[in-house]
Amino acid sequence: MNIEQTLKERAKEAETTVVSYLPEVTGYPKTVLEAMEYSVEAGGKRIRPVLMREVYHMCGGTEDSLIGPFMAAIEMIHTYSLVHDDLPAMDNDEYRRGKWTTHKKYGEAMGILAGDALLNYAFETAIQAFEAASAENLAQTAEALRVLARKAGIYGMVGGQVVDVEKDGNFVDEDMLLYVYVNKTSALLESCFMIGGILAGCTADEVQTLEKSARKLGVAFQIQDDILDVIGDEQTLGKPVGSDERNEKTTYVSLHGLENAKAKVKQYTEQSIELLQAFDGEKEFLTGLMTWMIDRDK
Ligand code: IPE
Ligand code: IPE
Ligand code: MG
Ligand code: MG
Ligand code: MG
Repeated sequence: MNIEQTLKERAKEAETTVVSYLPEVTGYPKTVLEAMEYSVEAGGKRIRPVLMREVYHMCGGTEDSLIGPFMAAIEMIHTYSLVHDDLPAMDNDEYRRGKWTTHKKYGEAMGILAGDALLNYAFETAIQAFEAASAENLAQTAEALRVLARKAGIYGMVGGQVVDVEKDGNFVDEDMLLYVYVNKTSALLESCFMIGGILAGCTADEVQTLEKSARKLGVAFQIQDDILDVIGDEQTLGKPVGSDERNEKTTYVSLHGLENAKAKVKQYTEQSIELLQAFDGEKEFLTGLMTWMIDRDK
């Protein structure tokens, strides 16, 4: 299987799903609706909705109408996290997904509001899954919604971002750095894996294994992101390199050096894939994609 080609196809499908749920650009708050669309349609790898769908299929899920709203929701939440991450008060970056960041294009107020609106609209979108849910999977849909909410919030992505930004310019030890990665980055990936499993009817034990697997994958993903911030190509990445150094961030690379960081990405990814061996379902593309992520250049 050609992973890169298949990813391109699946990402395109995921993008079509996400875009289909975006609100119409009309009325007095048109500017912010346009900014929401701008941020989401700018591009991006769409790794989160793609992974969510693959895990759902691996676990035996077949209802596109049930998983679709959650795929759209997670990409909206992820996009909002990037829009806010780029704000002058946070990482202060001007370039994202190959275009001006949202605040640079629409101004800071609209950047903040577009992020807020995307986060809220993500939940309005996920709730639409109840229309596709049958009597048997109403409880699963509710549980998926609970996970989506929890992992995006203070016990997830927001918690990680708080420590990340508060510690700019200060030393962070290994333990705190792991807290930051597990929360700012793993949490949304955990949400993807867990929601895929929950909606497909996995047991609580299986969902916990998925959570562990995604936690490892997220740490690997963030270390690779930090590596690319040092050795990546701006054009390919679609975002600036050197942002971490400029913001005086402690990263796995600044603590342990490039070679150790590369080895860790591989090790965490292999552990993440190993945990998925507990599942019998089709996962050739899923694990191929996870392996591809180790050496990604964007
Ligand atoms: C960037 O995520 C932020 C991190 C958590 C490292 P991605 O690398 O998935 O960004 P897009 O969606 O492809 O733009
Ligand atoms: C951000 O990490 C993770 C988020 C939750 C947005 P980074 O600040 O390293 O992400 P990039 O490099 O700007 O995409
Ligand atoms: Mg950041
Ligand atoms: Mg950033
Ligand atoms: Mg980064």
